Amino acid sequence: MNVEVKKAKKPKANGPTAEKVLFVKHWTDQLFSFRITRPAGFRFRSGEFVMIGLEGEKKPIMRAYSIASPSWDEELEFFSIKVPDGPLTSRLQKIQIGDEILLNKKPVGTLVLDALIPGKRLYMFSTGTGFAPFASVIRDPETYEKYDEVIVTHTCRDVAELAYSQKLVKEIYDDEMLSELVEGKLRLYDTATREDFPRTGRITDLIKSEKFFEDMGVEPINPATDRVMICGSNAMIKDVADLMEAAGLKEGSNAQPAHFVIEKAFVG
Ligand code: A2P
Repeated sequence: MNVEVKKAKKPKANGPTAEKVLFVKHWTDQLFSFRITRPAGFRFRSGEFVMIGLEGEKKPIMRAYSIASPSWDEELEFFSIKVPDGPLTSRLQKIQIGDEILLNKKPVGTLVLDALIPGKRLYMFSTGTGFAPFASVIRDPETYEKYDEVIVTHTCRDVAELAYSQKLVKEIYDDEMLSELVEGKLRLYDTATREDFPRTGRITDLIKSEKFFEDMGVEPINPATDRVMICGSNAMIKDVADLMEAAGLKEGSNAQPAHFVIEKAFVG
């Protein structure tokens, strides 16, 4: 008898698992999205982030990424920037269908419905890849059970960078199941800051001038009715959070839910 005994590499109990790339789409030369397999037993709340990465020379290169797919989805979706000299994204941007990506098992985060106290209208303010967690939250039926109205904003420098959010909201409205849930409730407010577009300007300026509220036909932010999630650069988060606090909203967390929650978008 000739039995070949192969020494299988045993994955560490709490280490990342290798997942297969199922889909890749390049939106601009700086933005792409991809989908990977979701391991059995991997649970998360819509809006959370997880560490993903690639094998490195000595150890894996892992970074925190918001999961852009909703918690009911069979696959996991991510929306990423491409940084030419970024340790992870310089390689990640070259992934192809069938490649393997490392996925940690512990999703966490504050951009979740649980971290907000009940309200009537949910705002999600994002810039750049900060839209990713909201791509998850706006596809979750629970969002529409909890809120009468859902307004997601996405601001980018250039018009082409808005394609992912625009296409996603259109797909939600085209989807037989989701369209029934979101009909008359979900609206996207997209603006570009460095190119001509029907809506231009930073969301902070549009809030301050109240043009945003006029465009959407709603009253200015009110802590009695409005709940808010914010995701973007540090500067954007601070400026939007300051405006929310000026309107009387208090920052919440998983441990202490309140009126608004913040999280930094992945940058490199
Ligand atoms: P702007 O073009 O006026 O800088 P970035 O790529 O620098 O993170 O920017 C992404 C988008 O977020 C851009 O449209 C940018 O506008 C906007 N932005 C940057 N900083 C802020 C801020 N502090 N408050 C609101 N929007 C911001």
